[in-house]
Amino acid sequence: MYDFRPDTALAPAERHRELLAAAAALTEGEPDAVANMANVAALLWEFLPDLNWAGFYRVAPAKQAVAGEELVLGPFVGRPACIRIPFGTGVCGTAAQSRATQLVADVHAFPGHIACDAASASELVVPVVREGAVIAVIDLDSPTPARFTAEDAAGIEALAALLADRI
Ligand code: SME
Repeated sequence: MYDFRPDTALAPAERHRELLAAAAALTEGEPDAVANMANVAALLWEFLPDLNWAGFYRVAPAKQAVAGEELVLGPFVGRPACIRIPFGTGVCGTAAQSRATQLVADVHAFPGHIACDAASASELVVPVVREGAVIAVIDLDSPTPARFTAEDAAGIEALAALLADRI
C-alpha cells in the first residue's frame, strides 16, 4: 500500500518537497508513462489544497495529420475536460508553445482561456520538456482566484523536470 498523505500543517514549500519525493518514489523504475501520469495526478490532488482539476495534457499527433501536433488530454483528477487543445490556444496551449510556465491569477482575463470547468478561477500550467521539446504540460486549476504562487510554480517545475524522462 502507498501512503503518501501529506501533513495538512505543512508550509507550501515543504508540501512541494514532499510531493516531489512521493512522485520520485512512485515513478522510480516504472517505464509506463500513463501509469506514472495517473499516479502523479492523484498525488497532486492529495498534496495541493484548493484544486478543482489536476493532470496532464500530452503532445500528440493532431487528429488531422496536416495540422502537426497538438495537446491531447492525459490522466487527471477532476471533471471531464476538453480533449484536444491546439498549440498557442488557451493557457495550456500557450505554455506548450512558449515552453514557459503560465501562472494565471484570473483565467477570465487570459486571452483565449478554455473554460473546461466553470468553477476554475486561477490556473498554473508547467511544460514538461525533454531534450528541448515539450512532451506534455502539467495543468492545475483552482476555484480560488490567485490560488497559485511563485512557490507553486517552482515546485511544479521541479516535478516536471523529474518527470521528463518518466512519462
Ligand atoms: N483551462 C485550460 C484548458 C484545460 S482545463 O483547465 C482542464 C486552458 O485554457 O488551456
